[in-house]
Amino acid sequence: MNVKKIINSKGKKKLSMVTVYSYFQAKMAEEAGIDLLLVGDSYANVMLGYENTLPASMAHLLPVVEAVRKGARNSFVIADMPFMSYQPSESEAIKNAGLFIKAGANAVKLEGGIEVANLAKRLTDYGIPVMGHVGLTPQHVNSIGGYFVQGRSEKSVKRLVESVNALEDAGVFAIVLELVIEEVAKTLTEEVKVPTIGIGSGKYCDGQVLVWHDLLGINTEFKPTFVKHYANLRETIVEALKKYNEEVKSAKFPSGEHSFKEGKE
Ligand code: KIV
Repeated sequence: MNVKKIINSKGKKKLSMVTVYSYFQAKMAEEAGIDLLLVGDSYANVMLGYENTLPASMAHLLPVVEAVRKGARNSFVIADMPFMSYQPSESEAIKNAGLFIKAGANAVKLEGGIEVANLAKRLTDYGIPVMGHVGLTPQHVNSIGGYFVQGRSEKSVKRLVESVNALEDAGVFAIVLELVIEEVAKTLTEEVKVPTIGIGSGKYCDGQVLVWHDLLGINTEFKPTFVKHYANLRETIVEALKKYNEEVKSAKFPSGEHSFKEGKE
């Protein structure tokens, strides 16, 4: 996959994207044929246990991008620009985006619409492909006041339309639409020539993204309507751990086959 193929897929093929945060997750996602791997700032929630994505930093995500690249050598990897890695200044944003590319990412993702369009243009001009992200932008949780569905008012729809157009003009290769009313996501998808990747934004988007822990049923404490569990890994893992715990305590593990004997290879 590359930027050209991603753009050309619009209207021909739906794109799959999943978040990954480690070497083995990346390996499995590549093996499964997932089109786009996102090293999301949701790392702060699902890997570090924070309430929101704001604590994610370059120091957290850079080694993750390196690990993901090692696990998925042929995949298109997108690094999420963490909160305050691109807001303070354009030069800081360019430097941090460059660090992600050096670490193995193919592109970066920026949250925001019109307000980040100039930056998206600068980055693409410097050879750093940018994925946009509009609708609910979790890095704005404090100013929004929660995780609400977007596109309910005429004003909000107008702003979303202006944002996707500004991002497209800036040269982004795809745009995430998060928690946008299905019909509004349809309008936004029709508005631009680059693919839209939906999360909680319905079936008309050109592709879909889910967070690893949601998709696989690891995070079962919270299941928003838009999440589908394709496995119940939490149950499977807890069952396996219980069995291991029991077998250690009852001295059933390790048995002969899991031990080294003198004089044997
Ligand atoms: O960080 C993340 O997981 C994301 C997706 C929700 C798109 O940005």
